[in-house]
Amino acid sequence: MPAKKVFLRADEEAGGREAFADAALYDFEYRRRRADVNFYRRLAKNRTDFAPAGPILDLACGTGRLLLPLLRDGHTVLGLDRSASMLAAARRRVARLSATRRARCLLLRADLRAFALRPRFALAVAAFHSVQHLYGQADLQHFLRAARACLVPGGWLAFDVLPPDPAWIERDPLRRWGRTLFRHPVSGQRLVYTNNHRFDPGRRVLHMRLYYQPLDEQGRPSGPEHVVRLCHRQLEPALVKSLLARTGFRLLACFGGFDGRPLDGDLGLADEHVYVAAAR
Ligand SMILES: C[S@@+](CC[C@H](N)C(=O)[O-])C[C@H]1O[C@@H](n2cnc3c(N)ncnc32)[C@H](O)[C@@H]1O
Repeated sequence: MPAKKVFLRADEEAGGREAFADAALYDFEYRRRRADVNFYRRLAKNRTDFAPAGPILDLACGTGRLLLPLLRDGHTVLGLDRSASMLAAARRRVARLSATRRARCLLLRADLRAFALRPRFALAVAAFHSVQHLYGQADLQHFLRAARACLVPGGWLAFDVLPPDPAWIERDPLRRWGRTLFRHPVSGQRLVYTNNHRFDPGRRVLHMRLYYQPLDEQGRPSGPEHVVRLCHRQLEPALVKSLLARTGFRLLACFGGFDGRPLDGDLGLADEHVYVAAAR
């Protein structure tokens, strides 16, 4: 009988940090990801027809993938993240903006599970599956309560979640998937990327491993493989909706993709789960 897999909390903690240690690589890997940025920009622009206007809080802002476009659109934005490397990349980008745009931005190193901010915000966003780095139920609740506390009455919280996909979750953890050849954007090192994962059903956390094998110019492995841990809590809509209700939010909309299609009973058709809730 195969030995039962033991999942460690230390792996979860590392799984929320290691993939964000190399900000340049992060930006390179997600350079073509635009649909989410466009969605949140539209939301920030249009919400003022229905909700109070005011500054935006970009929760887990990372390298500023969304924060920069929001600043360019004329918003005042506070970006919060706990990764020094991601925030440093965001700071470098903000430093290149005009003085007027720079003056509308603040970056802060803090944890999603414990932050308190004044003055309060009209809109808070947590883009690109960031809430899936909150692994325990208590972490999620702390996050939602903290977000609720720094919104003005009627202010909105918007975030997205990668839909749980049983077929993908259960694929063979012993195989390597997603083989991709590329050069590191800074060092120029040739690398081959692969990944696999195991699922912890007790915590509903997916433990992914991202493998980066250096190659020589002939394409042969050269040097040790670098392994990066990345963990994602799987979040079903029923749980998200009940947590939102319990932490002082009223669900306004729930989409099955960044194109705004509704998320109904047929979860199989969803590319993303996108939630928009108002502070009660
Ligand atoms: C997938 S990235 C998304 C970054 C950015 N929102 C974007 O759309 O590109 C997830 C971000 O969450 C941050 N993060 C993860 N856990 C966190 C925590 N507990 N507190 C603060 N930031 C956290 C990481 O440092 C990383 O920048």
